[in-house]
Amino acid sequence: MDQPDSTPARHLLIVDDEPVILQILQAVLEGEPYRLTAVGTGREAAAVIEEQGCDLLLTDKNLPDISGIDLLRLAKEKDPFTEVIIITGYASVETAIAAMELDAFDYVLKPLNNVFDIRKKARQALQKRDMALENRRLLSHLQEKNAELEAALRESQELQAELIQSEKLAGIGTLAAGIAHEISSPLFGIMGLAEAVDDEEDLALVREYAGDIVEYCRNIRDIVVELTSYSRTATTEYRTAVDLPRIIEDALLLVERSAPVDGVVFDRQLPEAAYVHARTNEIQQVFVNLIKNAAEAVIERFGGAPGGRVGIRVGQDDESVWAEVSDNGSGIPDDKLSVIFDPFYTTKPPGKGTGLGLNVVYRILTKYRGTISVESEPERGTTFRLKIPVVN
Ligand SMILES: Nc1ncnc2c1ncn2[C@@H]1O[C@H](COP(=O)(O)OP(=O)(O)O)[C@@H](O)[C@H]1O
Ligand SMILES: [Mg+2]
Repeated sequence: MDQPDSTPARHLLIVDDEPVILQILQAVLEGEPYRLTAVGTGREAAAVIEEQGCDLLLTDKNLPDISGIDLLRLAKEKDPFTEVIIITGYASVETAIAAMELDAFDYVLKPLNNVFDIRKKARQALQKRDMALENRRLLSHLQEKNAELEAALRESQELQAELIQSEKLAGIGTLAAGIAHEISSPLFGIMGLAEAVDDEEDLALVREYAGDIVEYCRNIRDIVVELTSYSRTATTEYRTAVDLPRIIEDALLLVERSAPVDGVVFDRQLPEAAYVHARTNEIQQVFVNLIKNAAEAVIERFGGAPGGRVGIRVGQDDESVWAEVSDNGSGIPDDKLSVIFDPFYTTKPPGKGTGLGLNVVYRILTKYRGTISVESEPERGTTFRLKIPVVN
C-alpha cells in the first residue's frame, strides 16, 4: 500500500576507523536493498548525517575524532526514527549498554566473529524503523480522521441549533401574525366606534358604542394577559423540583376562583408526590389551561346542571411523570383535533376564549421534551394525556 517501487532505497551509514572492519562490513551488507555509505571518521559521518540523514547508522563506538555515542545523538536529533547499532570492543560493554539506554537498537562486539549476525541485526533494525514509521503514519491518519469526525460533529450540532432556532422563529412568526390579526379586528372596531361617538348626538347610542368599545378592549386585554403571563414566567423563574399533585391542587383553586364551575365535580386520583424538573409557573399554567377547558366543555354540555365531571390523574414510571385531564363535556369533532393546538383556534365567543390556552400548553411541554395527546368524542367527553420526562 506504500508504493514500494517508488520508495527510495534506505540509507545505511557505516562508520569505522579500521579499514579492514569497514571492508568486512561493506562485504556483508552489500547486496541488501540499501544504499550504503561507508566512512572512516566521525567527522565524515557527521557530515553525511547532516546532509542526507540515514535510516540505519552502524558505527564504531571508539572513533578518534567524534565518538559513536555522539554520532548516535546527532543521528537521532536529525531523525528520531533513525536506528543505530553500536560496534564496540569487549572492554567497553558497559558503554555499549549506556548506548542502549540512549536508544541504540543493538550493539555488536569486536572482533566480528559472526558477520551474518550483523546482517540479521541490520535487517531487524530497519524493520523496526519501518514499523515505527508506519505506526506514525497510521497515528497521524487516525488523528486526521478524528479531527474530521470532530468537525463533522460540530457542524451537525451547529446545524441542529440553527434548525431549532429557525423552528422557534417560525413558531414566533406564526404567533406574531396571529396576534396582529387577532388584535387588529377589535382595534378597527374600536376606531370605528370612537369615530361614531365623535359624531353622535344621541346619548343612549353613545353609551351603547362605549359599551362595545369596552368589550373590544377586553378581547385585546385577554390576549395580552395570556401572552405576557406565559413569557414572564419563562424568563424570570428558575427550574426546581415541581410536585405535580400540589401544583394541580393550586391550579384547581385558580380555576374555581376564576370561572363559574357550578355543578362540576372535580375527581382527582393523585399520588403522594410526583416530581418533574421545571418552572413551577409553567407547569401550573399547563394544568390551569387544561382544567379550565375541561370545566368549560362540561358547562357547555350540562349548562350548570348536575352530571358534569372533570377527572385528573397523575402517575409515574422510571423515566417520566404522566398526567391525564379528562371530562365528560361537549367533546371535540374528529376533524378539529388537529387544529386545537394552533394559536387562536377557538370555538368560544369573543371575550370567552382567546384560542391561546392549548398552544401555550403545547409550547411549555415541548420545552421540557414532554408530549401531549388528545382523545375525544363529541357529546361524550375528552381526555388529554401528557408525559414529562423526569430528567429533561
Ligand atoms: N376539554 C375540552 N373539551 C372540548 N373542547 C376543547 C377542550 N379543550 C379544548 N377544546 C377546544 O379547543 C379550543 C382551543 O382551546 P384553547 O387553546 O384552550 O383556547 P380557548 O379555550 O381560549 O378557546 C377550544 O375553543 C375548544 O374548542
Ligand atoms: Mg382555553
